[in-house]
Amino acid sequence: MYLTKEEEKILDGEYGEILRRCMNLLVSLGEIYGAEKLIEISSSQVSGVSYKTIGDYGLEFIEDLTKENIKVKVPTTLNPAGMDLDRWREMGISESFAEKQLRIINAFRKLDIEISCTCTPYLTGNVPRFGEHISWAESSAVSYANSILGAKTNREGGPLALASAIIGKTPYYGYHLDENRKANYIIKIDKEAKFKEESFYGALGYVVGEMLKKDIPYFEDLYRFKPSIEELKLLGATMAASGGIALYHAKNLTAEAKVKDVIENREVIEIGKEEIMEAYDKLNSADDIDLITVGCPHCSLKEIKEISYLLKNKKLKIDLWVCCSIHIKAISDRMNYTDTIEKAGGKIIKDTCMVVSPIKNLNIATNSGKASVYLPSFCKSNVLFDDIKEIIKRYSE
Ligand code: F3S
Repeated sequence: MYLTKEEEKILDGEYGEILRRCMNLLVSLGEIYGAEKLIEISSSQVSGVSYKTIGDYGLEFIEDLTKENIKVKVPTTLNPAGMDLDRWREMGISESFAEKQLRIINAFRKLDIEISCTCTPYLTGNVPRFGEHISWAESSAVSYANSILGAKTNREGGPLALASAIIGKTPYYGYHLDENRKANYIIKIDKEAKFKEESFYGALGYVVGEMLKKDIPYFEDLYRFKPSIEELKLLGATMAASGGIALYHAKNLTAEAKVKDVIENREVIEIGKEEIMEAYDKLNSADDIDLITVGCPHCSLKEIKEISYLLKNKKLKIDLWVCCSIHIKAISDRMNYTDTIEKAGGKIIKDTCMVVSPIKNLNIATNSGKASVYLPSFCKSNVLFDDIKEIIKRYSE
């Protein structure tokens, strides 16, 4: 792998041990994947933030990086933590968990990483432009950045995205190269397949992710359903969870499909109502529910507004968590959406989500395909997967 003189010096440890370690990680990974060089990135999104998922080993790894007082070189945002950083007691989080979680957050702050704690950085100011190289680790955000925005990132691991942020570069391979960004399959969807609202996109994502694993789909007629940005966010997140899809194209909807030919292989897969119904069957494992959650990926303001309208003058029979970023919550508070939701008995939970917070053994209702894939293993939960309108109708009065 070609390295500049400056990169060689960093690798030789001339600028300290932390930079050497970060460079070593980038070079080792680059060599494994046959990268010819490193390229500059314009931003990073770091995952592996919740103490629940990274544990003591992760905490020590991140604290270690702060020892030489280095800072990240590019704007860097952070994935959700394991708790709301202000209201963790209300969530029933233990003192010992909170103490470790706050140490993790403090270490990221010392590295000058924005304590955004959201998986939707593209809704809160970290918005890469078309064609820009970035190093993002959150799989749903990777899908969004590659597909909707036309930025270029591999689906990085947390440590690699962090090392890239510190060095300001990433290995040049995979989705950074135009020739690896072409679709392998054309997806056609029967009109009858869409018999639900937003949860349909999770069900569709589940089907396509399971079928294609890490390939790149091209949705030829998805645009007929007029999906919103929020619905595309649900689709991409679920394809990344049930398979490993980091990039998709969709006629008239995604960035690269609008400006160039993005199809390499014209094999067609048709998806009908039967496949979508099967997906609902597979994702649904509970009938009786303890908690409703929305915001996987984190809610936009529009989603919170819709939930507040659904809850106007209603009382929830069980808890509701609406997960979002601190940025979106601030506007929700100002618009009185938070007030409406809390009067109905729900909570706006920021900085965290139903999957990475330490909840366990609860039966959970959600409109998110990604959460429905992860909750059974991450939280030992059974899941009710449906449109939020249907869930609220069933569990409110
Ligand atoms: Fe975000 Fe948590 Fe889902 S990090 S994408 S809300 S699993």
